[in-house]
Amino acid sequence: MSEFQLTYSTMFAPPRALHERFEAALQRVRAGLGQTHGLFIDGAFVERAALLDKHNPARQSELLGRFAQASVSDVDLAVAAARRALPAWRRTPWPERVALLRRAARLVDERLYEMAAAVSLEVGKTRMEALGEVAEVSAFCDIYARQMEENGGYDRALPDDPLPTMKSRNRSVMKPYGVWAVVAPFNFPFALAGGPTAAALVTGNTVVLKGSVETPWSGLLLAQCLKDAGLPDGAFNCLAGDGANVGEALIQHDGIAGITFTGSYAVGMHILRAQVNRRWPRPCIAEMGGKNAAIVTARANLDVAAQGIVRSAFGLSGQKCSALSRVYVDRSVADALIERLRAAVAKVAVGEPQREASWTGPVATRAAQVRHADCRRQLDGEGARIVAEGPLPPDAGEGFYCAPLVAEAPLDHPLWRKEIFAPLVMLGRVDNAEQAMAEANASDFGLTAGFFGAEDEVDWFLENIEAGVVYVNRPLGATTGAWPGYQPFGGWKGSGSTGKALASFHYLPQYMREQSQTRI
Ligand code: ALA
Repeated sequence: MSEFQLTYSTMFAPPRALHERFEAALQRVRAGLGQTHGLFIDGAFVERAALLDKHNPARQSELLGRFAQASVSDVDLAVAAARRALPAWRRTPWPERVALLRRAARLVDERLYEMAAAVSLEVGKTRMEALGEVAEVSAFCDIYARQMEENGGYDRALPDDPLPTMKSRNRSVMKPYGVWAVVAPFNFPFALAGGPTAAALVTGNTVVLKGSVETPWSGLLLAQCLKDAGLPDGAFNCLAGDGANVGEALIQHDGIAGITFTGSYAVGMHILRAQVNRRWPRPCIAEMGGKNAAIVTARANLDVAAQGIVRSAFGLSGQKCSALSRVYVDRSVADALIERLRAAVAKVAVGEPQREASWTGPVATRAAQVRHADCRRQLDGEGARIVAEGPLPPDAGEGFYCAPLVAEAPLDHPLWRKEIFAPLVMLGRVDNAEQAMAEANASDFGLTAGFFGAEDEVDWFLENIEAGVVYVNRPLGATTGAWPGYQPFGGWKGSGSTGKALASFHYLPQYMREQSQTRI
């Protein structure tokens, strides 16, 4: 069993050794905090005068590091480096690219604990969530490497032309597009940088990554792994900077041939529109937000439903795109479900995420904390009420902590439609499963969804729900917890532009364009 599988399978009952290794790594990482970090361009870490001080969201007094901020001319430099690296990398036989990915995966495994400690500090993730996130990158690398092998590099001989006078030999060959921009979010800064980067590289593209301004560290850790695995200079470049200037310059850059964006609906739609407004369109894989729903029918096991709801609504303090934010429950069992939720939410251990006992930590930014408080005010009165509230840690004032909340609200409340990205789940009473389905689908989003009900209701749910990742009667998460190789992860409607999920059989071909070759 590889380390990532160990991490995954023990996520909910971890062995002692795992904790001890994380704690030792955390100490080592903490001893090196406060350093200055550069950008990664053309195979080198380069210093810049513009620095951003990044603090721990759980303890604002702790400086994690001073991170170089890219300028628009750094975007030009990084794209130019990626373009120079492209001809050699694209001609590198695909088995060598596969071998590179596997070497990178093993380095990620070796550095699992150190990098998880850094990700945990940077995002405010618990140790188990951070270990899972880092391990996910080695899983992505292994899966994409295997898919290249299983598909023979996506190169296929086609039948010879049947007309005797033609006598042609025919092939379909999949070729990389060129330089790929990867724009990663703050909530999974390592996995959602590493997954798309691995896909782009193994298919022969070169990459310029821009991470979130909130999480500049993770991309640099990825850069170090790829460099140490032997990736040629320029094939991967990493910029930190703000979306409005650096991100915009990257996605508008003429030297970019394709984009993978993970982030908000508004930015994703802006990028998609910008790609067709050009001399020719560019592929854009946009994974956007979610307003994920769970349906609880009159015949659901309510203990299972309450567990699944609490895990998915409050894991990572509600900041997963897959987080559960809407529950539609049959009114005949609503009070009984609320009672169970109250008991479960009261036990959610909110605290410093690096501590073993903490089950969730702060939100990543002050803005998210303020948004959560605003929503709470909107849900207190006028037919809405907070029906369950979790505890805050004694040192809550040190970081961006928010109490986990379950709010019951009329079905026309505006917050049913708004993505909040904080620990708050809405609960609404419905007359029957059909009304629940209509409400669940009345959303511009379609990322994940959950169902709690009887066995003979399941096919109906799977047939009708409009979402890319769906779970049935799952206590470990009503809408969260996809793992590469087990649950391909991608959204429908306003949640995803292509409907081809991360780590699925259909994902890699998006990074290549087909050439039909006929020769006599
Ligand atoms: N992979 C994460 C989940 O499914 C986003 O919750």
